[in-house]
Amino acid sequence: MRVSVVLVLLLGACTMLGLVRVRAEGSDAPRGVALGFVFDPKAECEPRCEHGGVCVRNNTCFCSGGYEGETCQYASCFPKCKNGGECLRPGKCRCPPGFGGRYCHKVTCEGGCWNRGECTAVNGVVKCICPSSWTGSRCEQAFCPQGCRNGGVCVAPGICNCPDGWVGGACHTAVCSLPCVNGGKCVSPNTCRCRSSFSGSRCHERKTLH
Ligand SMILES: *[C@@H]1O[C@H](CO)[C@@H](O)[C@H](O)[C@H]1NC(C)=O
Repeated sequence: MRVSVVLVLLLGACTMLGLVRVRAEGSDAPRGVALGFVFDPKAECEPRCEHGGVCVRNNTCFCSGGYEGETCQYASCFPKCKNGGECLRPGKCRCPPGFGGRYCHKVTCEGGCWNRGECTAVNGVVKCICPSSWTGSRCEQAFCPQGCRNGGVCVAPGICNCPDGWVGGACHTAVCSLPCVNGGKCVSPNTCRCRSSFSGSRCHERKTLH
């Protein structure tokens, strides 16, 4: 790479000064020579120079713009491909998963981040950072910090959708359509737990003591 950079500078300078002359095959024109830099028209490069590179000395390629390497085998991208992107051809990067943009400089979360989640790279891993009330890989899932019990489903941040017979923020309160009386407690839908001296579906019957 360093050789080709030096050559680019030298060739550029020499071309401007008209010092480099490329002799056509079989021509008797004088060999192009410039200031200690020899463009050898008989030079052989093996393997051959690729991507339009010119063999200027034995095994020394002068690469055309956008390529570099011993035989000009590598495309070069400027700006360089970021985040482990690979330069496919000049100015065209192939980005690893999770990165996008012309130079792989943008972070992209597949499917996006919902509910104002933010797509961020953490140690090379791209993921959605969700606001506290949302969760899931795309922040698509509402988060109920209180939990949803008894088969309830969290449908919005902090909001449980409760099955029939249950109410409350976490679906933790049973509903007895006919209230429990005499200190009985509604412990599950339409089920009263009675104090020891009462019985019946609503604890409405006083036990007879013998
Ligand atoms: C370049 O290589 C060819 C073939 O290997 C050789 O004949 C020639 O002398 C070399 N030229 C220089 C300048 O070393």
